[in-house]
Amino acid sequence: MIVVTGATGTVGSKVVVGLRERGEAVRALVRNVGSVPAEWDEGVQPVAADFADPLSLDAALADADAVYVLVAVHPEMETHERNVIDAAVRTGRRPHVVLHAAAGVEQRPDGVRFLAAHVAAFEHLVASGLPWTVLAPNGFFQNFLGMAESARAGRLAVPGGQGSVSYVDARDVAAAAVTVLGTDGHQGAVYTLTGPAALSHAELAEQLGAVVGRTVEYVAVEPEAALAGMLGAGWDGWRAAGMVELYGLYASGHAAAVSPDVEKLTGRPARSFAEFAAEHAEVLHGG
Ligand SMILES: NC(=O)c1ccc[n+]([C@@H]2O[C@H](COP(=O)([O-])OP(=O)(O)OC[C@H]3O[C@@H](n4cnc5c(N)ncnc54)[C@H](OP(=O)(O)O)[C@@H]3O)[C@@H](O)[C@H]2O)c1
Repeated sequence: MIVVTGATGTVGSKVVVGLRERGEAVRALVRNVGSVPAEWDEGVQPVAADFADPLSLDAALADADAVYVLVAVHPEMETHERNVIDAAVRTGRRPHVVLHAAAGVEQRPDGVRFLAAHVAAFEHLVASGLPWTVLAPNGFFQNFLGMAESARAGRLAVPGGQGSVSYVDARDVAAAAVTVLGTDGHQGAVYTLTGPAALSHAELAEQLGAVVGRTVEYVAVEPEAALAGMLGAGWDGWRAAGMVELYGLYASGHAAAVSPDVEKLTGRPARSFAEFAAEHAEVLHGG
């Protein structure tokens, strides 16, 4: 049995589908069993559990052979990751734990709270003695779908400075997870998942412009202004400050390395941003 957490989200929902295509028995951890993705078939067993509720995690992981640990960005995300790892230990079955972290988890840059949580969870996992693998994806192409309206108005305004980022398609991250889950040969490995190129935000804006049919200007917003903008738009303070920290890492050029690991795991080249944008033209156009 392969247990997938974060199963209704951007990556996890695709991991569930990919595992089912391979014929695996999948238990999907969800908060609301009454509303699961339509593409899941009867081979998916949804189970209600919450990262903050260890007893519910014990029930969800009971007969797990492998566990995909993907938690949402949240002030308690480190505790949530630890809780799932601890529940995996309590099964007594030594399941293979695949931790979905983020690029930089090995380099441990200071001052990025989302990464700090993943680093602490990684250390906790190693100390648990369970067999483990870590997936460390860079920022997702899919994040840009939330900026479509701004792109249509001719602006990509983020605090990314002049740094380049090897953003990756979340579908390639999910495909890599499917390869690693329930198969041998990946224990003790950290796979860094990136797209095929590092692009500056000006280059990303240009590629978005080619799809939306107008010039999209990159505006390198100052961190303080970006924070104020997110707070004004109703973001909670912890998450908004974390996003500014992450963009600071991008601006510093420390998220530009390109890794071969997507192709190594999936057997296919990583999708490019241009391909992604063209495939999502309807969403980007607002159609
Ligand atoms: N976005 C990026 O660019 C990026 C890049 C690298 C790494 N990451 C990492 O990727 C992760 C986010 O992945 P994602 O974008 O696929 O996530 P997502 O779309 O935000 O989905 C989060 C999932 O977690 C579930 N969840 C939230 N709170 C829960 C709780 N208390 N108990 C149980 N389940 C809960 C959600 O279920 P519900 O349906 O019930 O809400 C959903 O299935 C984070 O760890 C982040 O650091 C993100």
